[in-house]
Amino acid sequence: MVLAVEWRDDPQPMIRLIDQTALPSEERYLDIVEVDDLVEAIQRLAVRGAPALGAAGSLGVVVAMHQAEREGWDQARLQTEIDRIRNARPTAVNLAWGVDEVRPAMSHGSDEVLRLAQKLVTEDGEANRMLGRLGADWILERTGLDRVRVVTHCNTGALATSAWGTGYGIIHELHDRDQLGLVYADETRPLLQGARLTSWELTQDGIEHVVQADGAAASTILRGLVDVAITGADRITANGDAANKIGSVSLALACARAGIPFIVAAPFSTVDLATKRGEDIVIEERDSDEVVFFGGVRTAPLGARGFNPAFDVTPHDLVSAIVTERGVVEPATDPDPELLARLAS
Ligand code: MRU
Repeated sequence: MVLAVEWRDDPQPMIRLIDQTALPSEERYLDIVEVDDLVEAIQRLAVRGAPALGAAGSLGVVVAMHQAEREGWDQARLQTEIDRIRNARPTAVNLAWGVDEVRPAMSHGSDEVLRLAQKLVTEDGEANRMLGRLGADWILERTGLDRVRVVTHCNTGALATSAWGTGYGIIHELHDRDQLGLVYADETRPLLQGARLTSWELTQDGIEHVVQADGAAASTILRGLVDVAITGADRITANGDAANKIGSVSLALACARAGIPFIVAAPFSTVDLATKRGEDIVIEERDSDEVVFFGGVRTAPLGARGFNPAFDVTPHDLVSAIVTERGVVEPATDPDPELLARLAS
């Protein structure tokens, strides 16, 4: 299994990232020893996916501390640079969470911050294993099927996390139990995380799948070709509204019409209890060129502007289940405005 984010001490303290923009054609690695390079890697999606951003954020604090020592930054400069990492992308709560979890340990030195960051990384992998099992159990029980066909969106695999994956973890678990049918992977315009990354992981894991255009997803669901939709999340609010890659809500709407479950899988670190409703989530809007160009070639006429929200919010009443390592809640049938708080303790 590939590791999206890894700490290395040799030849110097650094984060090693697989450059996800180069996949699937090339397995290229980035060694990050400076804050500028980490912020750039986050913003151009060399590292991406909410839990992987959490890992990059917490390890990024260690990178910043080492750079501060080399370059003689004062405390104010160091905190400003850490804030740049924390705020490099706004929607995935895990990025800020990863930074905030380790920041209080800075007074104990970079070794202690590293120890804590690595603990978070390990725990994320464990959480994914657990939610994979819980999600597979929930789906098999709810559908009553022996073999489940799945549609998924964006990339929620090992590349998007510290290990295993969230939504992908459930798919993997069903595969391991020999209870997985065909997987439909949405290509996920405009940056093709589904076609480039999910299909790459499915291929590596020997999981039978097809890649479909995003525009095919609703029809695939309404035609009865899949039994369940599984996505990840970038931020889940207290009432169960879930932000995820743009296009996710279209799957949820189609699932509601077809009467099949729409499942959101995420570690509890993606739950933001301080934000009450999806309307309060800041949605990252990315460069218009990502939409009006394809593979470096302009596809829309000169002068046409793109509209490029990176995420959408699926309202809780369309979410059949939110699967975390702490348990499963069912927002569509449970209108409690604080239902995620039940998993907090
Ligand atoms: O813009 P990205 O590629 O970072 O968006 C990622 C997603 O939307 C994922 O589905 C989400 O982070 C869940 S990852 C387990």
